[in-house]
Amino acid sequence: MSWYEQYRSRYARLKQAGKPFFPYAVFKDMVVVSLILAALCWLAYFAGAGLEDLADPTDSTYNPRPEWYFLFLFQALKFFPGRLEPVAAVVVPGVSVLLLLLVPLLDRGPLRHPLDRPFWTGLGLASLAAFGHLTWSGYHSPLINPTVEKDPLISRGIRLYREMRCAYCHKINKKGGNIGPELDRSAGSGSEEWLAKHLRDPQSVTPNSAMPKLNLLDDEIQALVAYMKSLGEPFTAEAPKLFTQNCASCHRIGETGGEAGHDLSLIGSARDKAFIKRYIGDPSKTNPDSSMPGFKGQLTEVQIEDLSRYLAGLGR
Ligand code: HEC
Ligand code: HEC
Repeated sequence: MSWYEQYRSRYARLKQAGKPFFPYAVFKDMVVVSLILAALCWLAYFAGAGLEDLADPTDSTYNPRPEWYFLFLFQALKFFPGRLEPVAAVVVPGVSVLLLLLVPLLDRGPLRHPLDRPFWTGLGLASLAAFGHLTWSGYHSPLINPTVEKDPLISRGIRLYREMRCAYCHKINKKGGNIGPELDRSAGSGSEEWLAKHLRDPQSVTPNSAMPKLNLLDDEIQALVAYMKSLGEPFTAEAPKLFTQNCASCHRIGETGGEAGHDLSLIGSARDKAFIKRYIGDPSKTNPDSSMPGFKGQLTEVQIEDLSRYLAGLGR
């Protein structure tokens, strides 16, 4: 007898004997529910849920990613560009859930075994396969920003910057007030000693400064200085190497490099990241007479972003 026939005859026997729903089926349910609950408690206690840094509205280098169980939706959105996004975000999931609710009404056949209902079983499996595929490709889809580990001291500086309301007077990444200078344009060029002295007592460095003395503790000053020095977008250790491999034949940074293109040692003081990024990708878009080769296709989007951040920080 095959497993299938065994299953059918056991099912017929049990049905004949007529076991009531309570307590037999309820007991089985309880066992499974308790096991799942125990597994969840175990995971919550021993694995826990990872938390990221506090959200930082001035940080444009974040890679927004949903949790893994929403990656399929994240990936599905990419098939519906621009104005069609609501279709993927609302209509498709809505219709799917509706279909799920209607299955008992649509699948009216008397047979219960999955293999007796090839259409509905097939539809279910196809959906699972689609979920699996979208989740997998969502997980492997390329990031927009290079991932750079944040130094905990800098994270603390970011938190202090928000708590002390520095943004009331200062702009970072174009967000904040106008009373003080834009910090991502200027603060990185001050020496650490100067910055620390300035934060401890602004008037001692800049007579008549409109920046108030904030009575910061030494370790708070240290964290804020680290944050100030890190301004300008973070790039990976890969970026200078990319420059050596792809650009140094024509461009010079500091002592080394070629002569065919400009010296880029101070490029950040003249050009912003957006300009540099556009130029690396396709110089002829910015400068029709350009004799520099474009790097779109040769370098990935992430590598060009990384390289642009590195160059935009030079000479600032
Ligand atoms: C009430 C407005 C105000 C607040 C609040 C304020 N600043 Fe300032 N800040 C200024 C002004 C005005 C200057 C320019 C004069 C000077 O250099 O002292 C300045 C200068 C600076 C400079 C020197 C920048 C440069 O390029 O010369 C740094 C760094 C700085 N502020 C950081 C901070 C930090 C960090 C905080 C929060 C802990 C903060 N500021 C809070 C008004 C403010
Ligand atoms: C074959 C030589 C060559 C290579 C390789 C090259 N460049 Fe250039 N680059 C030039 C020349 C020549 C110019 C001057 C303007 C022009 O012709 O586009 C230039 C201009 C630039 C500019 C614009 C400067 C400005 O302020 O107008 C930037 C930025 C730049 N290059 C970055 C890079 C980077 C980054 C790489 C490597 C990924 C690179 N270049 C590789 C030859 C080169």
